[in-house]
Amino acid sequence: MTKIIQISDTHIVPEGTLAYGQVDTAKALAETVTTINRLLPQVGPIDLVIVTGDLTEHGSEEEYRRFRSLMADLQVPYRVLPGNHDRREAMRTSFADAHWMPPTGPLDWQIDFEDFAVVGLDSLTANSAHGTLERATLSFLTDALAHLGGKPVLVGFHHPPFVVGIEAMDAQNLINANSLSTALSLHAGQVLMVCGHLHRGIAGLFCGRLCQVCPGTSHAVTLDQRANAGNSFIKEPGGLLLHEWRDGGFLSHLVPIGAYPGGYPFK
Ligand SMILES: [Fe+2]
Ligand SMILES: [Fe+2]
Repeated sequence: MTKIIQISDTHIVPEGTLAYGQVDTAKALAETVTTINRLLPQVGPIDLVIVTGDLTEHGSEEEYRRFRSLMADLQVPYRVLPGNHDRREAMRTSFADAHWMPPTGPLDWQIDFEDFAVVGLDSLTANSAHGTLERATLSFLTDALAHLGGKPVLVGFHHPPFVVGIEAMDAQNLINANSLSTALSLHAGQVLMVCGHLHRGIAGLFCGRLCQVCPGTSHAVTLDQRANAGNSFIKEPGGLLLHEWRDGGFLSHLVPIGAYPGGYPFK
């Protein structure tokens, strides 16, 4: 049974600093790694962990080094995708030793598992908060789907393809989502889209397929759907998603990050 874990928006900053002067994102990522390793005996084996963008706050090589050092204890292989806070070339350089990191072009990759394939798409638009799937990335997706035939596919990227009612974030989502819809409409098999950017757990339908937005590992975007609410964060608990293939379909579990008392019998 194929299982992958998704984490997102780790926003690592240089050592000795806090994100926005408020959030210890490195501590949150360390807790995330511990949470995943602790889960393994209960839900493993896990085939892959994917990180759906905003690994760092500023896209510096120093921050990527810190990210990699915090992830070094993870007992599962992982792959990453860029978000709007990342810088493509710094990320490429920082993961140059990873066999799945493309030497040129968008940071797209694919891996096939027994039950489903995972296709990672680069939605970073340089110097912009919103996302775009460039022509090369759309071709990568179209080719991947053509080769998969009807095999189920989990498609990961950073920017959500739909609006969620949080005005400041909706203005910076995936601006050419129609192109994604066109590409996916040709696929006969099941599709699960997974993304990040919103720092909130949200599930919605996009072009008739399920799209899961993963919470961040530390801070959350404030759920405020009033007009002109501005853009702010709230220190809600971080979370991760466990996506698995069960009984002929995709299924996603939301797991809070951290250690909680439990295992109490229901009697
Ligand atoms: Fe983010
Ligand atoms: Fe983002």
